[in-house]
Amino acid sequence: MGSFVTNHDESGCPILSPCFGERVGSRTGDWRLTTGNWPLDTGHCIVIRMKLLIALLLSAPMLFAADFAGIWVSSVKQPDGHTDREVLVLQQSGNQLTGKSERPWGNFTISESKIDGSRFELKAKTDDGYNISMEGALEGDKLRFTVHEPNHKPYVVTAVRAATDPFTVKDVIPPPAIKDLAPNGLAKTPPMGWNSWNLFAGKIDDKTVREMADALVSSGMRDAGYIYLNIDDTWEGDRDANGVIHTNNKFPDMKALADYVHSKGLKFGIYSSPGPYTCAGYEGSYAHEAQDAKTYAEWGVDYLKYDWCSASRLYKDSDMRAVYQKMGDALRATNRPIVYSLCQYGHENVWAWGDKVGGNLWRTTGDINDTYKRMMEIVDTQSAIARFAGPGHWNDPDMLEIGNGGMTTDEYRTHMSLWAIFAAPLLAGNDVRGMTDDTKSILLNKEVIAVDQDPMGAQGHLAQTAGDTQYYARPLNNGDMALVVVNRANASSTVKIPWGEMHIAQGTKVRDLWKHEDLTANDGQSFTVPAHGSLMFRMKAPQ
Ligand code: GLA
Repeated sequence: MGSFVTNHDESGCPILSPCFGERVGSRTGDWRLTTGNWPLDTGHCIVIRMKLLIALLLSAPMLFAADFAGIWVSSVKQPDGHTDREVLVLQQSGNQLTGKSERPWGNFTISESKIDGSRFELKAKTDDGYNISMEGALEGDKLRFTVHEPNHKPYVVTAVRAATDPFTVKDVIPPPAIKDLAPNGLAKTPPMGWNSWNLFAGKIDDKTVREMADALVSSGMRDAGYIYLNIDDTWEGDRDANGVIHTNNKFPDMKALADYVHSKGLKFGIYSSPGPYTCAGYEGSYAHEAQDAKTYAEWGVDYLKYDWCSASRLYKDSDMRAVYQKMGDALRATNRPIVYSLCQYGHENVWAWGDKVGGNLWRTTGDINDTYKRMMEIVDTQSAIARFAGPGHWNDPDMLEIGNGGMTTDEYRTHMSLWAIFAAPLLAGNDVRGMTDDTKSILLNKEVIAVDQDPMGAQGHLAQTAGDTQYYARPLNNGDMALVVVNRANASSTVKIPWGEMHIAQGTKVRDLWKHEDLTANDGQSFTVPAHGSLMFRMKAPQ
């Protein structure tokens, strides 16, 4: 058995051996290591070495962190010919990452990060506080990661390094000087029709639009007033060498499609963005506003929804009015009557200037979805801005979800009743090719539609609240008044309507717009309102 003397470290433990040895000198002296006589006076060495090992393990990622810094671009060609892009711009300091995750419509700023060798994790959020997280790894020269977004299935992205950021726009065109555009004379009552987004999103194509046109006619929707057939995002293709926008392969011939829609007695709507990209990442109208307006007019477009999206990369919110005015002007220059729908989620008090840029309607909130909760969140913001709506210029609390399956029939009745009391545009977002009787009875309720389309165009508002019961009122052109009673509770309730408090005399003639029955106002009456459901009445003006 041999033994040897080795150096020791500051704590007095031998550097070379994991304590196979024997101490032969003082704590500061030499150590003689032997083999085979473990453990010998080694307790404190083990503790120290464990600590060293743990420290080493903890510092390993720092020592071996891969190089993530740079611009990472993922490009995925879609079947319609469009290329979906996502970008990660990363700065790295040790095992920390900063930078942004970019989508065509805007950015997420990285707020937290973690690197473990070639693996990484990130958390990022928009200015509005929308959070996402990602985790993945550097695999050769590719960055492969999974993205987690609220209300989305996680998805995997593969990105490669790029020299430049495809979403960066240089030399941004300054917005025009502000002026007031005269009204275009359109949308005297809130626009009614159908829009592809809520149900079909990116899965809309020529064939489906034609089928919707047929179904709007055969279902009676057109004759009930739903005349605009609007294609939302994802129709866009590339621009040609002259900058003219073309459709992607889902829409082989937009002019022919518009002609078909017109042949059915309907009007034809389309969608774009003042930014370089739409919200779904397709080609926007930035720097091509006049050219696009001309193309739309040539196709026979009657309605444009213009969605802020990626304009946020180029312009401040305070530029919105001028940016929207630019397209308003371009539409005017075509001399074709085109309803102008502003979609910028109610930012910058759009209701105060939307009509001055030629807007006929403006979204007042972020997107609706097919839930009672989201629908009522939107409802709760509408009364305060009621006075800004009127013939030719409407508050738009977003498109209808009726018939899409996420709410109960009672909840959908509430949706329709409140949209009508708010003089909201009625843009159905369901599959009109196969509507249930319940859906038809809601969307095709002519008495409720008549309230929505009342020619005076005064938007109703929340007039009174009693516990979970809310009363929304709207004055109508012939002196009548519309009333919606909403039960916000999760259980059905019995209510006695306080007619007197709402200045409705006893004995006033009242029409129940859901039951299609006449009654007279009477304090003795009580009504059952289902959970999240509503009643809707039209009170006749005293003769
Ligand atoms: C935004 C709009 C929606 C829809 C999508 C399309 O989210 O608010 O209504 O147009 O863009 O990408």
